[in-house]
Amino acid sequence: MTPIHDVLINNKTTSSPIWLMRQAGRYLPEFRKIRSENKNFINLCLNEFLSSEITLQPIERFDFDAAIIFSDILMVPFGLNQKVEFKKDFGPQLGNLNLEEISKLDEIDFIEKLYPIYKSIKKVSDNKIMVDKDLIGFVGAPWTLLVYMINKISPKKELISSFFKDEFLINKLLNIIEKFIKIHITEQIKNGATIIQIFDSWAGLLKEKDLPNYIYIPTLNIVNHIKSLNTPAICFPRNIKNYKEFCQIVKPNAINLDYNINPLKVINELDIPIQGGLDPKILLTDKENLKKNTLRYLSIFKDYPYIFNLGHGVLPETDPNMVDYLVKTVKDY
Ligand code: CP3
Repeated sequence: MTPIHDVLINNKTTSSPIWLMRQAGRYLPEFRKIRSENKNFINLCLNEFLSSEITLQPIERFDFDAAIIFSDILMVPFGLNQKVEFKKDFGPQLGNLNLEEISKLDEIDFIEKLYPIYKSIKKVSDNKIMVDKDLIGFVGAPWTLLVYMINKISPKKELISSFFKDEFLINKLLNIIEKFIKIHITEQIKNGATIIQIFDSWAGLLKEKDLPNYIYIPTLNIVNHIKSLNTPAICFPRNIKNYKEFCQIVKPNAINLDYNINPLKVINELDIPIQGGLDPKILLTDKENLKKNTLRYLSIFKDYPYIFNLGHGVLPETDPNMVDYLVKTVKDY
């Protein structure tokens, strides 16, 4: 059994395995080199040779306990034939949504469009460096994908004012997205993903009264699908108003904390394994401060099933030496 499965399945507490969200990315010179020669991000995700190589870069460098497949949550809207572009210094930009066309989309065509992702997962999974390590597949939660598909740009930039008004569109689209997320998960697991993480980056946009319909029910359906494939599910409902209620209803195998959550408070509220929490900005400070903050999380979760990770992704301006120091601090604890 891998160290992370031991935490997720057996509630093991004696050591903290470690991986980081966005561990493969722009802070690594070896990634930047490939990226500079491949200007189109979607095509890079669809190149199974390069995406598998990028996935393994941080494993070779830092010996993390898990690799996370180099892809993006917006590959699902892309698979649904919505136009998706990543613009430099702007972020994702999606094209118009054609509900009628999306409603008619065939499962086989979706799988064929995303096929290189599954081949990439297979390549990583077959690499001998992955022995005793997990390969994390992932999806965006239905709610977060819906936000991108309707809003078409990141809500960090702007949220269209009519967003919550068209309930018919929202409910119809949620059902379709849920169906294709499940297909995407099944294919990832079939090809070697050993854990699925569900990213709900925009869970924090919703009021508490809307959480059941837009988050709890659709995410529970996804988690149950993952569990039915004998695979653990980790949820990251970033900034959600109520972590405790989320865990009680959705029952993932673990929950990833965002960095605004007080770990001392949640440890008493939750009864499932916990992952993450450290503010990625701490990696931009100095080693002494990094060590102090890392040891704080490790000591709080000393007798609790805990997987070390951050409270959001590694920032592009991070010095790889700081990541190395973080991994050593966790492994030496
Ligand atoms: O964690 C990993 O290393 C695996 C790969 C991964 C990426 N995106 C690669 C990526 C994962 C798990 C994601 C998830 C993702 N994508 C989320 C959920 C997590 C979160 O950050 O809240 C979201 C909201 C997206 C959508 C997305 N993709 C945005 C908003 C952006 C632009 C912002 C940015 O950081 O550049 C992306 C692009 C993206 N996805 C990059 C990478 C490595 C940067 C691409 C580049 O090199 O320009």
